[in-house]
Amino acid sequence: MTASKGLEGVVATQSAISSIIDDTLTYVGYDIDDLANNASFEEVVYLLWHQRLPKADELAELKQQLADNMSVPQEVLNHFKTYDIQSVHPMAALRTAVSMLGLFDEEAEEMNPEANYRKAIRLQAKISTVVTAFARIRKGEEPVSPKSDLSYAANFLYMLSGNMPEDIEVEAFNKALVLHADHELNASTFTARVAVATLSDVYSGLTAAIGALKGPLHGGANEQVMKMLTEIGSVDKVDEVINEKLANKEKIMGFGHRVYRKGDPRAKHLREMSQKLTEIRGEEKWYDMSVRIEEIVTGQKNLPPNVDFYSASVYHSLNIDHDLFTPIFAVSRTSGWLAHILEQYSNNRLIRPRAEYIGPDMQKYVPVEER
Ligand SMILES: CC(C)(COP(=O)(O)OP(=O)(O)OC[C@H]1O[C@@H](n2cnc3c(N)ncnc32)[C@H](O)[C@@H]1OP(=O)(O)O)[C@@H](O)C(=O)NCCC(=O)NCCS
Repeated sequence: MTASKGLEGVVATQSAISSIIDDTLTYVGYDIDDLANNASFEEVVYLLWHQRLPKADELAELKQQLADNMSVPQEVLNHFKTYDIQSVHPMAALRTAVSMLGLFDEEAEEMNPEANYRKAIRLQAKISTVVTAFARIRKGEEPVSPKSDLSYAANFLYMLSGNMPEDIEVEAFNKALVLHADHELNASTFTARVAVATLSDVYSGLTAAIGALKGPLHGGANEQVMKMLTEIGSVDKVDEVINEKLANKEKIMGFGHRVYRKGDPRAKHLREMSQKLTEIRGEEKWYDMSVRIEEIVTGQKNLPPNVDFYSASVYHSLNIDHDLFTPIFAVSRTSGWLAHILEQYSNNRLIRPRAEYIGPDMQKYVPVEER
């Protein structure tokens, strides 16, 4: 038995949800470019969960179901006040809050497909309320109730700021949600599938996935990109800082990918939105710095930017706190995680790979006083 480090190249499951072939990403056979340019996030949620696009009445029904399920038990909101909220990372708070939501769901342990689908709707609806409520409570503000006539993207921005978002902001945020919704067997999706393949419940799968997304090699990269941009500070400092990082063999966050070789097809959409939004805000420096970093890293290392690189300056331009970037990734990816969880349940087998043993050979037990 020989291990593939990081399971590189291992095909671990069949899936009808999304695919990456020759650097083209599709959701259920629809090119991500097509969806990013045309689809609402709600349509994508339906597509991932049903493997087809919704008809008008089906889309209206899903929107209504999401709107009806956005409120979060007061106990979950209150728990944000039981610890030092300023020192807690929002991803850690989200991980706990999602697990806690399960305690208030009477169907949490129901395993039939209908109950699991209802839980999917509840989780997708509630996760944006949880993230925005956390963000407001830590600023000493009251959570804002969602408006049932707003889209998922508009509602998130509204609940976060308490103000009605501009159209361009909703367009950018919707696009970001569409682009992050699913990504084949990425680390957090695999984690979710492993958890529920034991026939554990949906909340356990989601909680495990959030934990996996949190790391800087996965969803945590977008926050690290903004940290890097902030530290660099201005375009004229980019060359010096990036060249030094590369010389020190440091990883540049937001670049590289396990699966894509020529480039991540999602990055160009976020790059375009970053250019537009930073210009509107009069803060072009974030885009200009990003472009210069891309030139250097691509030129020297032949590593193209991934989805996290330009999403950083997009979210910053939407006035979103930097440590909320990864929770927003989670809000979107919840749709993909849930699609994979439902798919796993529908054709389940325990996921249990093997390890290549590299420890010592057979040893004899020695009593503690003789060691
Ligand atoms: C995404 C990522 C984890 C993929 O990892 P992987 O497939 O295991 O690739 P490796 O980490 O083994 O990298 C392969 C080589 O490319 C280099 N490399 C990969 N990403 C790099 C980056 N962002 N900056 C600089 N060098 C990088 C590695 O140092 C390594 O070089 P070496 O062979 O000389 O040691 C990795 O590219 C990375 O850490 N990127 C930064 C974090 C990030 O943006 N994550 C979000 C992904 S959507």
